[in-house]
Amino acid sequence: MAPSMVAAAADGKGFNGVEHNFAHLLKGVKYLSGSGISKVPEKYILPAQERPMRREAEPDPLKLIALPLLDFSELQGPNNDAALKSLSDACQDYGFFQLVNHGIPEEVTKGIVEVSKEFFEMPFEERSKYMSSDMYSPVRYGTSFNQSKDKVFCWRDFLKLTCQPMEEVLPHWPSSPPHMRRELAASYAKAAKNLSIALTGAIFRGLEIDQVEEHGAMIEEFKAGSQLMVMNCYPQCPQPDLTLGMPPHSDYGFLTLLLQDQVEGLQIQHRDEWVMVQPVPNALVINVGDHLEIFSNGRYKSVLHRVLANSTQHRVSVASIHTLSSNRTIRPSPSLVDDANPPRYKDTDFASFLDYVSSREPKNKDFLESRKVTR
Ligand code: OGA
Ligand code: NI
Repeated sequence: MAPSMVAAAADGKGFNGVEHNFAHLLKGVKYLSGSGISKVPEKYILPAQERPMRREAEPDPLKLIALPLLDFSELQGPNNDAALKSLSDACQDYGFFQLVNHGIPEEVTKGIVEVSKEFFEMPFEERSKYMSSDMYSPVRYGTSFNQSKDKVFCWRDFLKLTCQPMEEVLPHWPSSPPHMRRELAASYAKAAKNLSIALTGAIFRGLEIDQVEEHGAMIEEFKAGSQLMVMNCYPQCPQPDLTLGMPPHSDYGFLTLLLQDQVEGLQIQHRDEWVMVQPVPNALVINVGDHLEIFSNGRYKSVLHRVLANSTQHRVSVASIHTLSSNRTIRPSPSLVDDANPPRYKDTDFASFLDYVSSREPKNKDFLESRKVTR
């Protein structure tokens, strides 16, 4: 008997005639999916009430939503009051929007999606060089949401790359596939960073706080702020109704820029329903994160979202999460707080978020909830 079979037999959880122990599952879903299984291992099966399936009296979970579509060139141009109003409405009512004419060349967006696919197609041994449970590691490959904490695993593998300071972290990034580092990942990361700063400026103008000196200085701080690029891989799943590609969560930063291929999967919570975001060619999906909800004192919403697994198509996405540096305090903007609108959140920072998620199973919007002022 092969050594892996001995270990698996001791674990006792068999399926499809193949034994899979926990160590095996840590190889990730790309590996599992490639091993030709026809059922998901037990570790991926969600309790019935958390599954994405249609249940009686529940709205159709595959309902599509056309997110507000914003044109970046209009946000930047003169006479942009109407565009800024649409931006503000989108952040308030949806927490999400799609951005076209964002200025990132198509060869860069296509390139980063392609190279992400290639990374996950490399042999597991090559990918596993980048495995780390250290939340501060500049490169971290893994599976599920938080593999050391999740009771139920989700159907995703990821590669997380810290992007700041670029020249320092770059040598740690994977050297294969070829072109991964400098040509593609670095050019996309830089373009995403510039775009996020321009968008933050537009958000400040939309909130009418851009003239406040403190906020001008904040834009400068964003330039040296934190950026995490997350490449997500969702391979075909034999039983997509039993599991999720990513569980409901909100993003921690100010803004997330998400590049997805044309395969549906991302759902957001809108008016108490899960709705599927319809992919728009060449658009970026942008969402408000916890730090922007806090900074806007609750005016803009960091909305819950999740990813459905899919039985027929492989899906890849690249999220770029932007915020201030990790020790910088995030608090409601003093310009948006007064006697009638007292601060609704406690001060926080990125480091305490990392401590929080390292210490427990992350769920829903727990961290943000923990920062709310209770009266
Ligand atoms: C994320 C995320 C969504 C997706 O990486 O935080 O929500 O569609 N990704 O992959
Ligand atoms: Ni997210």
